[in-house]
Amino acid sequence: MTDHADKIRLGILGPGRIVRRVMMDLHLAQHIRVTAVASRDLKKAKEAAAAYGAEYAYGSYEEMAEADTTDLIYVAVPHPFHEACACLMMRHKKHVIVEKPAALNDKQVERMLACAKENGVFFMEAMWSHFLPAMVQTTDMVKNGAIGDIRNIYATFLFPGKIDAADRVYNLSLGGGALLDVGVYPLMPALTFLGTEPEKIQALMQFTEEGIDLRTAAQLMYKNGATAQFVCGMDALADNTLVISGSEGMIRMPGYVAPTAFTVVRPGKEPESFTFEREKQGFHHEFEHAALCILNGLTSSPVMTWEETLASARICRIMRQQNGLIYPQEKDEIFE
Ligand SMILES: NC(=O)c1ccc[n+]([C@@H]2O[C@H](COP(=O)([O-])OP(=O)(O)OC[C@H]3O[C@@H](n4cnc5c(N)ncnc54)[C@H](OP(=O)(O)O)[C@@H]3O)[C@@H](O)[C@H]2O)c1
Repeated sequence: MTDHADKIRLGILGPGRIVRRVMMDLHLAQHIRVTAVASRDLKKAKEAAAAYGAEYAYGSYEEMAEADTTDLIYVAVPHPFHEACACLMMRHKKHVIVEKPAALNDKQVERMLACAKENGVFFMEAMWSHFLPAMVQTTDMVKNGAIGDIRNIYATFLFPGKIDAADRVYNLSLGGGALLDVGVYPLMPALTFLGTEPEKIQALMQFTEEGIDLRTAAQLMYKNGATAQFVCGMDALADNTLVISGSEGMIRMPGYVAPTAFTVVRPGKEPESFTFEREKQGFHHEFEHAALCILNGLTSSPVMTWEETLASARICRIMRQQNGLIYPQEKDEIFE
């Protein structure tokens, strides 16, 4: 770092839709300041840099990689390009926070983790929900046994959309599809509360004409008999609630992707509700966490772990393989 000794200099790679939302919150991250923006289009980079208060604008991702104007790069391009962009930055000794899903598949994640290790830099998938106060408290309570042993996890994440081939979420070559775009959210609580190695993985997919999954329904089963189910999709409305069922109670969390409340229900007791104030949408929490990890010399997050990122990519890839959904960029990848 060159100045603001306690602030990590953040570079934005690919100023698009999610960047616009994240930038509304980022001033709330105490140990981050945005210093640079890189786009494939210099004019766009300059406009975004002006809008986000960054001093430097680059017309290519390589130029930002080579310049000493950033410490941490936020990779916010569509998923097929995450690996190349993240590795480019890590090879230049930049720390990386990469949007979810970390990559198209687990092979790509393995290569990114190897690159982070080789270059001794911090790498984290941007699962922002993990860092929101309501989710942090739920995780603490569940791990401290508040509802006993976890037996089942159920979650939905569906929204009604309109198929639009120009939009990356419906475009096969841009990694479109419900599972990778939104399915990683209902999958994540199973990985956090039941573990990263389910014994059985089953998925059913409804496809668009172009061949991306419009809706995916899936279930997992673990060695100890615990189970999880989720449905994700882009063609219907659901309550988008997470239900964690334990041997001594349950937790119900509406809107668990960006939660502001949850209720603990235990047999024979009054339900206990917890509510949380949320400043803005809450994207700053994951960036503040990444900054503190870096300032403390960590290369991985103890909250959003490499193990979870790898498991999420592996499980989604198995679910896609079961249904024949292969992205053009991974046609030559060989999986066991
Ligand atoms: N955490 C969340 O809540 C959340 C929400 C939405 C999306 N995401 C994730 O964020 C990532 C980006 O999503 P988005 O909706 O922001 O994407 P987007 O707006 O469609 O694209 C983001 C940027 O990617 C760059 N890009 C680089 N190569 C590209 C190519 N070949 N085709 C199209 N764009 C390309 C473009 O930047 P330049 O042209 O300026 O270089 C574009 O502005 C995805 O992985 C998505 O899953 C996360």
